[in-house]
Amino acid sequence: MKQTASELCPALTDGTAKAVIFDLDGVLVTTDNCHFLAWNRMAQEEGIPFDRKINDRLRGVSRMESLEIILEKSPRTYTEEEKLALAERKNNYYKELIGTLERDAILPGALAMLDFCRTHGLKTAIGSSSKNTKAILTRLGMTELFDAIADGNDIKHSKPAPDVFLCAAEKLGLAPALCLVAEDADAGIAAAKAAGMRVIAVGPAASNPDADFALPQGFAPLL
Ligand code: BG6
Ligand code: MG
Repeated sequence: MKQTASELCPALTDGTAKAVIFDLDGVLVTTDNCHFLAWNRMAQEEGIPFDRKINDRLRGVSRMESLEIILEKSPRTYTEEEKLALAERKNNYYKELIGTLERDAILPGALAMLDFCRTHGLKTAIGSSSKNTKAILTRLGMTELFDAIADGNDIKHSKPAPDVFLCAAEKLGLAPALCLVAEDADAGIAAAKAAGMRVIAVGPAASNPDADFALPQGFAPLL
């Protein structure tokens, strides 16, 4: 059923928010699946059990921390040097995948949501743990849709630490309490809460009890 953005999230139009900070992978674009495919390829090559359930734990988590989670199931241990090589191999597979993305990788309703924000005077930003953020936005022609971009290159501590969202708020010149966050990861919801922001939880995170607004279908109901 079609719904308006204000119906999905009344805070967008009640004057309490001045910006929406969007996570990228799994909120605006389908790159969460590219992460899964790239990790899965690496895990299979190494003989490490890996599935969609484990993958959900990697949402919002940095590359090296994601690797540590995957290695929990590894039959052997790896040196720090080997771990760096595994992460680099995964990132190369990931870059191959994102290098083929087309505009249909933008999730349903995401552009409508961004358009709604901009026409209603809300600033828009990216708050993503990914160091590939800018490459993805450029590839999909989305860079100009954001007033600020904070990503994995800007921060030391990734989600669930609040750093990336605080960095986005600072780049926007806004107090954290005036920012809403859109997230598909439990780690991202914890990060937003730690930053003092309200959260719109989308997709797999919609059942998280800490979410302020839950959108199980993401922004698709806007279409
Ligand atoms: C997050 C993804 O956006 O970025 C995680 O949800 C990923 O799955 C993290 O591990 C880091 O991404 P990258 O592109 O720097 O390896
Ligand atoms: Mg995400």
